[in-house]
Amino acid sequence: MASKQFSKFGFVAFCIVLSGCERQISFADDVQPIFLASCIECHDKSAEGYASSGFSLGDYESVMKGTNFGPVVIANSSISSTLYLVIASKTSPEIHMPPHHDNALAEGRGTPLSEHQIEMIQAWIDQGAQNN
Ligand code: HEC
Repeated sequence: MASKQFSKFGFVAFCIVLSGCERQISFADDVQPIFLASCIECHDKSAEGYASSGFSLGDYESVMKGTNFGPVVIANSSISSTLYLVIASKTSPEIHMPPHHDNALAEGRGTPLSEHQIEMIQAWIDQGAQNN
């Protein structure tokens, strides 16, 4: 019984990593709450992350519009999406998010998103970055 439950859990975790067979991630229910909790303080239209990059995380349209330099979410390709790369610490340390300043995250002064949150955002992008 116990081992049956474990293998079921293992299968779900495996699927999330592969982002092929997991449940549909919802922008409104799964992704937006993460942005509101961890990003909006700087990426709202009156805040510093917006002032310096033009990137607002306030709603779906803004997320898809990206920064002054162009989109940061490329539907179906998390690995081409700057938004995914900065939260998964796959960029140069100065721009790991949150919170960006002066290598803060790389030097342990910030709190990264949890693995689960990062995987959820990655899966949302790889499922087509829909407004769902
Ligand atoms: C403490 C403030 C702060 C927080 C919190 C923050 N950011 Fe940022 N973010 C910034 C600043 C400032 C910039 C502009 C960086 C620059 O111009 O070098 C930025 C830029 C960005 C960029 C553009 C990077 C580029 O160079 O194209 C992305 C994408 C981004 N942030 C995503 C996020 C996400 C996602 C979160 C939440 C998980 C987040 N940020 C949380 C301050 C913040």
